[in-house]
Amino acid sequence: MKALSTSTWLCLGLTLLAILQAIRLNYISRQPLRSLSSPQYPQHPNEEAQPSAVETLTVPPLSTGPAHSLMDNTQLANDPSNLFYFVQVSDLHISKFRSQTDHFLHFVRSALPVIRPSFVVVTGDLTDAKDTDDIKTRQFKEEWQLYQSAVEEGSDLAWYDMRGNHDCFDMPSWQSDVNLYRTFGRSAKLLEQGQGVYSWHVNQTYGQYRFVALDACPKRGPARPLNFYGYLPTNTMDRLENTLLDGRTYNHTFLFTHYPTTTMVFGQSSLGHTFKDLMRQTSAYFCGHLHRLMFGLGDILKSYDTTTDSLELELGDMKDHGVYRILAVDHDLVSFVDVELPLQPANDVYDFPLSDDKKVIWPDTIALAPVILITNPKDARYLLTNKEPTHRIRTSTHIRFLVFSTHPPSSLKVRIFVDNKPHPFAATWSGNEHTPLWTSSWSPEDFDDISTHSLRIQVTAPDAQVGESQILFRVDSVRLMIGGGFGEWLIGTSAANIVSEQ
Ligand SMILES: *[C@@H]1O[C@H](CO)[C@@H](O)[C@H](O)[C@H]1NC(C)=O
Ligand SMILES: *[C@@H]1O[C@H](CO)[C@@H](O)[C@H](O)[C@H]1NC(C)=O
Repeated sequence: MKALSTSTWLCLGLTLLAILQAIRLNYISRQPLRSLSSPQYPQHPNEEAQPSAVETLTVPPLSTGPAHSLMDNTQLANDPSNLFYFVQVSDLHISKFRSQTDHFLHFVRSALPVIRPSFVVVTGDLTDAKDTDDIKTRQFKEEWQLYQSAVEEGSDLAWYDMRGNHDCFDMPSWQSDVNLYRTFGRSAKLLEQGQGVYSWHVNQTYGQYRFVALDACPKRGPARPLNFYGYLPTNTMDRLENTLLDGRTYNHTFLFTHYPTTTMVFGQSSLGHTFKDLMRQTSAYFCGHLHRLMFGLGDILKSYDTTTDSLELELGDMKDHGVYRILAVDHDLVSFVDVELPLQPANDVYDFPLSDDKKVIWPDTIALAPVILITNPKDARYLLTNKEPTHRIRTSTHIRFLVFSTHPPSSLKVRIFVDNKPHPFAATWSGNEHTPLWTSSWSPEDFDDISTHSLRIQVTAPDAQVGESQILFRVDSVRLMIGGGFGEWLIGTSAANIVSEQ
């Protein structure tokens, strides 16, 4: 047997540290976390006189949103309506010392103008906050300035963000000068007003959609590696509960935070609701945070919780893997695709791409391969049994998918394969200036045979770049195991399993 390498020893050491930390946190999380006397965020001036909304709230019933009637006559056909999409990115780690910064700049410069989503949401770790030695942590104003300039110069889209653990390294408090998110973060005002929780909406004639951002950074941000965990003490739980139980019904609610649930320590709300109770109000939980996992596990964690009928969808990082996610809601079916930017080898010399007058020194644009997001039939591994009108797949007349490309639709070559055989009907551009929709006729009843089928779509651009997406589908609304195997198991277990990030 070979001797263990240094990195294996390091890994084992970190495992031990994480286990000890998990035991401690497990202990802490069983203590009541009910001190409302020390809010994580400053009270809003006009809030002081009024009794807190939490105290006057009567327990609203926990509901699961609109029930889509099985008898509805909404049909998934070939029109670009009842559909919107947005983009999530995570773990940018803009760094004064490391060229990983370029990935985010490429994303803003080359990907976003092609995708043009309804909004962008960044789930934390906007900056790296690590010194030249890669060990010491510190908040650098230049990193924050670059983030702010890149968003302002590079994008006119609605933009939401929140802090991750790196954004809270060595943070004495929200008010502290060290909390540069407060100055440079796009959503700092919303987050401050909402004391850690804020929301926004997409209101359409065909439905109401709600998005909730949650800052779970510890009140005092410790240095590495002890700030690996996110915290939801009672006061933050109360804010979240207030936001989620606003008495309205939404077609879908999506929750965004930096930390996967496996690295969160939860309190209960004052009304006694647990985090799972609140998760029933949502369709999906989006996070980032863990980019390098033990045992070389490359899998990004995605899971479905049967008790809450909601998905937890971790996203890979922008920093090392150049990953971003496009998520579409099409006739209330929720679909997503995780895309990797074509990464370029880093230069040996890294010049921080910010000029003296705080302007971004942008890298050259890169030509992206077409990106395909299939929305009907929806991938059966991510079906939300009670929150989506999954029966619409069976009554649909068309396969539907979005194609994002710099090239005009007429110049794209689109090929569809069902169960690896060419689909007999042509793909047709059915989109408009807001929605790059393609469709193709199909007869779902041909596949209604109590088994799983595959759908693969390939798009070739005039520059010979090829994009491809593949899903597994069912016409009978049966949900498949996500099959992340170990990954899915991991997310369902407690914190001690996961070791290292950054
Ligand atoms: C959308 O609707 C919600 C409530 O249903 C409301 O609070 C919000 O202000 C609306 N947003 C926009 C942009 O109209
Ligand atoms: C959104 O919910 C409303 C109310 O339940 C429903 O009538 C409507 O069909 C839903 N929208 C879509 C696109 O399914």
